[in-house]
Amino acid sequence: MTVDPGTISPAALLGTFETPLWLPQYTGGTWGQWVLSVILLPASRGYWGIPYATLGSAVLTGPVHDGDTTWMSIVPMEVESQEIGIAAARGHTVVLGLGMGWAAANVALNPAVERVTIVERDPNVIALIAEQGVFDQLPAAARDKITVINADAFDWRPDAPVDSLQADIWAKVVESGKWNDIHRLQANIDAASVYFWGQEMELYRLACREAGGVPTDLSDADVERLAAQTGLPLVLSRQAGLAARIAARARWWTPNKDGWWEA
Ligand SMILES: C[S@@+](CC[C@H](N)C(=O)[O-])C[C@H]1O[C@@H](n2cnc3c(N)ncnc32)[C@H](O)[C@@H]1O
Repeated sequence: MTVDPGTISPAALLGTFETPLWLPQYTGGTWGQWVLSVILLPASRGYWGIPYATLGSAVLTGPVHDGDTTWMSIVPMEVESQEIGIAAARGHTVVLGLGMGWAAANVALNPAVERVTIVERDPNVIALIAEQGVFDQLPAAARDKITVINADAFDWRPDAPVDSLQADIWAKVVESGKWNDIHRLQANIDAASVYFWGQEMELYRLACREAGGVPTDLSDADVERLAAQTGLPLVLSRQAGLAARIAARARWWTPNKDGWWEA
């Protein structure tokens, strides 16, 4: 069910879920094929598995090749799943995929970040975020770091060295082509560090492939080794117990189907 909400305050909709990250205000409406609205949502699970009582979620739906999909929603899962990348951003950070502008805004608020280049392929998304005044809500020091470029991320090349890359151009947390995509993107961008949305679950895919099934004793050292084997400078959480957290949460965020990891 959707409602036409006028002003949307994602923070007020998140109920018992709290985050130190910044949440903008939005206005409901339609821009081309993109719709910003509120869905009613009485409960929502965070990326790390905790269920929260929520009221609703600000949602952005838009076109995919075979119809429309939810591209972004401000829910505990999305907020928690971007935290590691936002915290690790530094220097010149490239954000691939503007969406609701939320992750990019938080990258700009990170004091370790000097410049944020956002690459978005759909001009309607860029117009939507401009009209919503998402970045105008930021303090000037953060807002002034941001440049938005209308380009396909796979064709775009940076004009200066990139210290960190934050990629979120996918609609689903795990997708069969993600590793191929991220290697292609990094081949052009050559960032000193890389974080992409759903990265932990994609590392779990690699762990399942290696084990030939669901791994029974995945360790933090295994996760680090699998990440290193990709050849990408991936940013990992420094908190101990990452492997156990990934393995426990994979039941929520990966397809519960034997062999999904082979795709
Ligand atoms: C999941 S949303 C990003 C959400 C964003 N992290 C946020 O905080 O709201 C993905 C965005 O990537 C864009 N996108 C998809 N494929 C792209 C591509 N090849 N190049 C650039 N942008 C792309 C979509 O139009 C969409 O705006």
